[in-house]
Amino acid sequence: MIELRAEGLIHVYRTGAVRALDGVDLVIGAGERVALIGQNGSGKTTLVRHLNGLLRPTEGRVLIDGTDARELTVGQLASRVGLVFQDPDRQIFAGSVRAEVEFGPRNLGRSGNDLRSAVADALTATGLAGEEATNPYDLGQSRRKLLALASVLAMRTPVLVLDEPTTGQDARGIERVQGVVEAAAGEGRTVIAISHDMRFVAETFERVIVMRAGRIILDAPPAEAFAASSWETLRSTYLEPTLAAEVGDRLGLGSTPTDASLIEALRAG
Ligand SMILES: Nc1ncnc2c1ncn2[C@@H]1O[C@H](COP(=O)(O)OP(=O)(O)OP(=O)(O)O)[C@@H](O)[C@H]1O
Ligand SMILES: [Mg+2]
Repeated sequence: MIELRAEGLIHVYRTGAVRALDGVDLVIGAGERVALIGQNGSGKTTLVRHLNGLLRPTEGRVLIDGTDARELTVGQLASRVGLVFQDPDRQIFAGSVRAEVEFGPRNLGRSGNDLRSAVADALTATGLAGEEATNPYDLGQSRRKLLALASVLAMRTPVLVLDEPTTGQDARGIERVQGVVEAAAGEGRTVIAISHDMRFVAETFERVIVMRAGRIILDAPPAEAFAASSWETLRSTYLEPTLAAEVGDRLGLGSTPTDASLIEALRAG
């Protein structure tokens, strides 16, 4: 299992000279469940793309278990950090669900029963078992997103990064993603997810990192990140607390980031 570290990370995109990351310092321990939130363009995707070498720092560095990511090949990084893209159509390329999900683990050297079970587990976790022969383009957008997730899950990397995994998912799809996060964390893997869905964030993660303009402006557990004392900070990057947090505050119940914590507080009150 792996510790991730960013030190003074700055990224300037050449096109337009956009300073997408403006000095990010961050340590994520092995097995943490971390949500990354912030307004559009705040640098979330840029940050996670440094973790698997898709982007290299303009300044500063990224350490994967103490080793500078610059010293690791893209292949070595891919075996440690699995990244599910925001847009599945940029990730999916194969002609069948099976071929798509097999590609990653095969590349990492899995074969035979090991490969078969990695693929079967990933398809079951994402609700795609039985679709092995289906062409990904016949799945529809929300299930294509789950396929992109399955193809990274099958690689069984110690770190799993999900860029907006619940966008376009109905309640069942969101539950599947929550199940995937919990199962991965239960195995001691690190899960980092970018999301604009505050309810999903509050319910699923133990640590919330808030970004604005290429910097981290808050890093706290959900009970603190969604407490009334943080709302001004959240709103400065165009985020709203969850409904449960607002209701709990109005009723004077303290911080209740999730429905479950609100109900619990109501019962106790
Ligand atoms: N390939 C690129 N070339 C130039 N600028 C880019 C590129 N990708 C992102 N940017 C810019 O970098 C900044 C950070 O973008 P990034 O995609 O990391 O934000 P984000 O927090 O993931 O946003 P969103 O919530 O919309 O996905 C934005 O100003 C964006 O316009
Ligand atoms: Mg993004």
